[in-house]
Amino acid sequence: MPTEITKVAVVGGGYMGGGIAQTLALAGLPCALADVTAEAAQNSVRRLVEEGKDYESRGLFPEGAHDLLVANLRAAESIESAVEGADYVSEAVPEILDLKQATLARISNAAGPHTVIGSNTSAIPIGTLAESVTRPQNFLGVHWMNPSFFVPSVEIIPTENTSPEAIGAVEELLKKACKVATRVADSAGFVANRLQYALFKEASSMVEEGLATPEVVDEVVSNAFGFRLAFFGPFAIADIAGLDVYENSFRSIESAYGSRLAAPEVLKGKVAEGHLGLKTGQGFLTMDPAAAQEIANYRDRAYSELKALKERLGPPPFLSKNA
Ligand SMILES: NC(=O)c1ccc[n+]([C@@H]2O[C@H](COP(=O)([O-])OP(=O)(O)OC[C@H]3O[C@@H](n4cnc5c(N)ncnc54)[C@H](O)[C@@H]3O)[C@@H](O)[C@H]2O)c1
Repeated sequence: MPTEITKVAVVGGGYMGGGIAQTLALAGLPCALADVTAEAAQNSVRRLVEEGKDYESRGLFPEGAHDLLVANLRAAESIESAVEGADYVSEAVPEILDLKQATLARISNAAGPHTVIGSNTSAIPIGTLAESVTRPQNFLGVHWMNPSFFVPSVEIIPTENTSPEAIGAVEELLKKACKVATRVADSAGFVANRLQYALFKEASSMVEEGLATPEVVDEVVSNAFGFRLAFFGPFAIADIAGLDVYENSFRSIESAYGSRLAAPEVLKGKVAEGHLGLKTGQGFLTMDPAAAQEIANYRDRAYSELKALKERLGPPPFLSKNA
């Protein structure tokens, strides 16, 4: 039976595993890190501690971060020695099914009966990976975003066999790390990557069709609806715009790109029922029209501060000028 998580291990100390280890160590948890060899784990811990010092000096990590990383991060000799005594293990090896399965089997064999194991897979269904562990009740997907310390979201993906205690223990852990933990269904890519990859696919089609360069797509996305997405998801944005407006726009999109981009049935159903979003109080979300001014005030404040932040930072250094 999983208990409170007070000691953790990360297997695979690369980009994501390193960030997860840093974040959990900064949340006050002793964290052992394992990689392909003891030397690779040591190099990783050294890099994470040095990076922590640099980030603290630039005000990106909180005061005392370097000391916490020195105190809490430990390079392990092997996967088995990292996992020994850990209440929670994060698997963050490369996205290769065989490798994940073999690594999860090793972690599971070394883990105690109470140890919860979370895979950081980007897109492999958790039910598929669960076949590799001996206690599926203690196994789930715990999908962090990159860079782990800064991006708030962590998707929690239980399978039908994951115990409520294991889910609860991970949620408590993520609360300590100040993360926004959201339970999502077990399907390839979960919520974040299914959407992110759908966007990437459509963006790539524009480039392949010669309609836009990658620079043009990126500039428009990050300054248009991507700007809003920092505060509102696609459903809030649609509700605020008006679902009837969306349905009308879909007519042009469908006639150009076919049924692949036809108005979704769920959208047409809402419009048919007169649920048009904020202006009627009911859309995909429930929004009280009486609160319209309050919502507009929130939106305007958020956008004004984000606009100022973007102006202060300037464009990313790789963004070339568009013709
Ligand atoms: N990079 C991202 O933006 C991102 C975001 C979210 C999730 N993920 C997922 O996180 C996982 C890790 O991705 P990453 O980007 O950190 O990869 P990475 O290549 O940076 O790191 C993987 C680490 O695992 C180690 N490793 C490889 N084989 C191992 C083994 N047998 N035993 C122990 N360690 C081993 C490697 O040496 C490396 O340090 C993947 O499943 C990936 O899909 C990545």
